[in-house]
Amino acid sequence: VELLSGKKPLAGKRVLITAGGTVERLDPVRYITNDSSGKMGFALAEAARDQGADVTLVCARTDGPPPAGVRIVKAESAEEMRAAVLARLPEADAVVKAAAVADYRPSVRHGSKMKKGPDRLTLELERTPDILQAIGDWKREAEASGAARSPLPFVVGFAAETDDVERNALDKLARKRCDLIVANDVSREGAGFGADTNIVSVYGAEGLIEALPLQSKRAVAERLWKLVRERAGWEEP
Ligand code: CTP
Ligand code: CA
Repeated sequence: VELLSGKKPLAGKRVLITAGGTVERLDPVRYITNDSSGKMGFALAEAARDQGADVTLVCARTDGPPPAGVRIVKAESAEEMRAAVLARLPEADAVVKAAAVADYRPSVRHGSKMKKGPDRLTLELERTPDILQAIGDWKREAEASGAARSPLPFVVGFAAETDDVERNALDKLARKRCDLIVANDVSREGAGFGADTNIVSVYGAEGLIEALPLQSKRAVAERLWKLVRERAGWEEP
């Protein structure tokens, strides 16, 4: 149908994607981060762009520059990313949370460079806000109050796991009220952080929807957008 009409499958849709690893600062020159390269989020942004979507990409630390032709919003820390995402949520038709958000940050952020002192130093960390949980809570409140537009954004979360992939993914889906969870077993060769390929399983509330074998992150992204379009009711399955 799209080929015949020349209409791109995500034309008119506004999508919000997060990518990269958040950076949680200890002082002006030191920080905690993770191995996320941002490649999965970039692939999702490129695929959505090429399918005609209006794409906003909220970027934390990434390897290499973000794709062209999308709106870039920089957000270094989990807190900055939370603010950037929640501010744009009301205008989004779909939100895909591919970023690796730190779970903890230093509880004190020093304004000037820390000096060395005793032989041992204990670093205290505190929890960061859970952005996906905040999105789920926002959706629930919007539904309850009846104030928000309908339909609410379609939300896709990611889950990086090394053990009990299915159980953990379904647990996250339920807890954070996502429409889909994309689980990658980061202990497998060719999956997850830094690679150009990924191996993922996509879960919905009913359980496993699809297990995608090793393929490029771009191919994974194309498949995910197809699932989003169908399950959000934007096109016939
Ligand atoms: N996430 C988030 N904000 C956080 C932590 C995670 O929005 N502070 C999002 C991630 O972007 C991802 C999803 O939640 O889409 C799952 O992240 P993951 O690290 O797999 O799960 P957690 O809930 O953090 O649980 P844990 O790390 O203990 O497995
Ligand atoms: Ca986590």
